[in-house]
Amino acid sequence: MDELFRALRDALGDGAGWRAAAAPGRVNLIGDHTDYNDGFCLPMAIDRRCLVAWRPLEEARIRARSLTLEGRVDLPADGADPAPDLQPRWGRFVAAVAAALVARGARGAGIELVVASDVPPGAGLSSSSALSVALTLALADRFGWPTADRREVARTALDAEVRATGVPGGLMDQLCALFGRPGHALLLDCRTLEVRPVPLPEAVAVVVIHSGVERTLAGTAYSERRRACEEAAARLGVSALRDATPTQVADDPIARHVVSENARVLAAVEALTAGDLATVGRLLLASHASLRDDYRVSLPELDRLGELALEEGAWGARLTGAGVGGCIVALVPPERACHLAQVVAARYRSETDLPARAFRVRPAGAAGPVPLP
Ligand code: GLA
Repeated sequence: MDELFRALRDALGDGAGWRAAAAPGRVNLIGDHTDYNDGFCLPMAIDRRCLVAWRPLEEARIRARSLTLEGRVDLPADGADPAPDLQPRWGRFVAAVAAALVARGARGAGIELVVASDVPPGAGLSSSSALSVALTLALADRFGWPTADRREVARTALDAEVRATGVPGGLMDQLCALFGRPGHALLLDCRTLEVRPVPLPEAVAVVVIHSGVERTLAGTAYSERRRACEEAAARLGVSALRDATPTQVADDPIARHVVSENARVLAAVEALTAGDLATVGRLLLASHASLRDDYRVSLPELDRLGELALEEGAWGARLTGAGVGGCIVALVPPERACHLAQVVAARYRSETDLPARAFRVRPAGAAGPVPLP
C-alpha cells in the first residue's frame, strides 16, 4: 500500500460506510493542441493519481476536505454552478461536478468527501482532470448516475472543468484518465473518441521535468489559440482543422501546427510499434519546434530543458500539455532515466535559479472504484 492510500485510510478511521474512486494524472507523449481540433494525441495515464473517498450525508449538502490541499467545502447538493470566486479553488470542481451531473439528469444527494492526490499541480500533468474524474465517479455513485459509458463520464468531467475554470479544454485528459492501461500509451481519435492502446516498449522510460514556471497565463493563451483554430477552420470551410490539408494551411502557423502535429502523432505510433525510438525522438523534437515556432506556447525555460535532456542522452523531448510553463516530457533509455533526471534538473537549476523537479512516470491503469480495506 502506498503513502497516499495509507494517509487516506488513516483519515477515514475504520473506513466503515466509505467508498472510494481513483483517477490518474497523465503525460502527453505527443499531440498537443490537437484534441479540440478533432485530431489525434498520444497520452498515457501515469502512476500518480487523485483518490476521493465518500459516504452519504443525510443533509442535502456536499461537504469535502482534502488531505493535500487547503480549505474545506460546504455546498448545497442541488447542482448549482460554483461562484467564480468560490474558495478554496478546488471547491469549484466539487460544485461543478455536481452541476454537470444534475445537468445530465442526476438528482443531487448529501455526500461527505475526502480528497487526496499525488499528481503535482500546475505541472501540465492534469491534476485537475484527475480530480474532476475521481469526483465524477464518486458523486455519480452517490447520485445513482450510471457510469458504464466511460466516454460520457469523460464528457461530464470535462463539462465540470469548463464550469469550474472557464477554460474551454478538449477531451484528451479525461479520456486518458478513463481508458488508461498499464504498460500502454493511448492513441486517441478526438473526433470518433476511439481509443487504441499502444504498448510502450520495455526499452523506453518516460521522464517528466517541471520547469518551475507555473502556468499562470496558460488559460488565456489556451482560449485565444482555440479561437484562432476555429476561425481558421471556418475560413477554410472545414468543420475542424483535422480536415485541412498541409497545402491549405501552409501560410497560417496556428493551423499549420495542428495539421502537422496530427501527422506526427500517427507517425509516432507507427515508429513506437516498430520499436524505432530514434524516429520517435525526432518526432518529439519536431513537435516541440512546432509548438514553439508555429503555435507559440513554449518558453525559453522549456526550450532549455529540452536541450539539456538531449545533451544528457534522451531520444527526444518536448513540452507537454498546454505549455506556457509546466513540464517537458523526455523519452530515454531506462538505465539512464534516473541519472538523466537528476543531471538535467541540477544543470537547469544552476542556470536559471528555478526549482526544477524531475521524475520518472510509468504507464498506469484507468480511473475506477478502489477497495478500502
Ligand atoms: C490542456 C487541455 C487538453 C489539451 C492540452 C493541449 O491539457 O486540458 O484538453 O488541449 O491542454 O494539448
